[in-house]
Amino acid sequence: MDYTSCMSELPITQINSRPGVIDLGMGNPDFDLLPLDLLHQSSEKYFAAADRRPLQYGTEAGDGYFRHSLADFLGSRYGNRVDPDRLFVTAGASSALDLLCTLYTRPGDTIFVEEPTYFLALRIFEDHGLDAIPIAMDGEGLRIDDLEGKLAAYNPKFLYTISVFQNPSGITLSAGRRKDLVQLTRRENFLVIADEAYQFLPYSQHKPPSFAECTGQVEQIISVNSFSKILAPGLRLGWMQAHDSVIERLAGCGLLESGGGMNPYTSSLVRGLIDDGGLDENINKLRGEYTRRLEALDGALRMYLPRAEYVKPQGGFFFWVRIPGVDAMELRGKAAGFKVDFRQGALFSSQKGMREFLRLGFCFYDPSAIEEGIRRLADCLTG
Ligand SMILES: Cc1ncc(COP(=O)(O)O)c(C=O)c1O
Repeated sequence: MDYTSCMSELPITQINSRPGVIDLGMGNPDFDLLPLDLLHQSSEKYFAAADRRPLQYGTEAGDGYFRHSLADFLGSRYGNRVDPDRLFVTAGASSALDLLCTLYTRPGDTIFVEEPTYFLALRIFEDHGLDAIPIAMDGEGLRIDDLEGKLAAYNPKFLYTISVFQNPSGITLSAGRRKDLVQLTRRENFLVIADEAYQFLPYSQHKPPSFAECTGQVEQIISVNSFSKILAPGLRLGWMQAHDSVIERLAGCGLLESGGGMNPYTSSLVRGLIDDGGLDENINKLRGEYTRRLEALDGALRMYLPRAEYVKPQGGFFFWVRIPGVDAMELRGKAAGFKVDFRQGALFSSQKGMREFLRLGFCFYDPSAIEEGIRRLADCLTG
């Protein structure tokens, strides 16, 4: 039977836009850019090796071969050796955040988040009954003065920061602030969870810094990362890089003792792909394609929406656009009639603020659809 001819009435993907609508709110990669060929090749290699061990319950911190390959990949990107023992395999960044909440918090605890922040991380924190206190941001990332002020008033279990090409703002924490934050975590002894899911998607030659690189020395910093944006979200694969003491705590949790390490089978497929240079190849391809799409969105905003205020992102997936005097929530209600969609700023605010902001993604659609989407949005604003 042809696999794809077996039609399911039930949904397959999480994408649920109505037909004909250009949903510029989406944070998903384009279907056409998902690396079917690379995974085909690495699967063939895996089955030729006929190794049954990845089909067994896996070791808690994640498949050893995979952690070695991942360490080599990261080491070549950072220009510094990465210790495979300091890597912990996850089922993606969301699963990492959930596990960290399980291990480091209890319902009713306070945590700090950036304002704005990734809206679905807020959902995970809500599921754990956590009280999220916002830390203000500016063009250099989270504001250390605000963080210091709030540290004097609260005792957070952790600070969640998306320190590189932030979702939604696109901002990267500056080198000076990064240094200040490391000093502060050591002095005040609070945990920093740095979500670096967009780190390998810069659209200039500038290599963004990573908190992963200081986790060997600084016990309080945990770097969370994912293959969702650089390979495919359906793999449900990611990693954390952290100090030995953190890795030990993670690997000792009940979830892993019962279920074993996360995704050993998928790890084996991705390992083959990393070893053959497929991950580097894919990242290069994505960076080229996403640069074209970013330019298309920038050009369309200038042409059709000159009122829009934004800083052109240097990496990641999103534009964070302010349209002064416009309530984005109300605009979104109206946008349905113009067959366009986006995400309103209030979703990304733990305080339901940011009402004049829109998050627009540029990775799911090709340049012509992006331009058409912005044209519709402009019609919606004037119509
Ligand atoms: C900042 C950030 N963290 C985590 C995720 C989810 O990552 P994963 O698919 O690895 O769970 C996303 C996805 O959009 C994201 O933008």
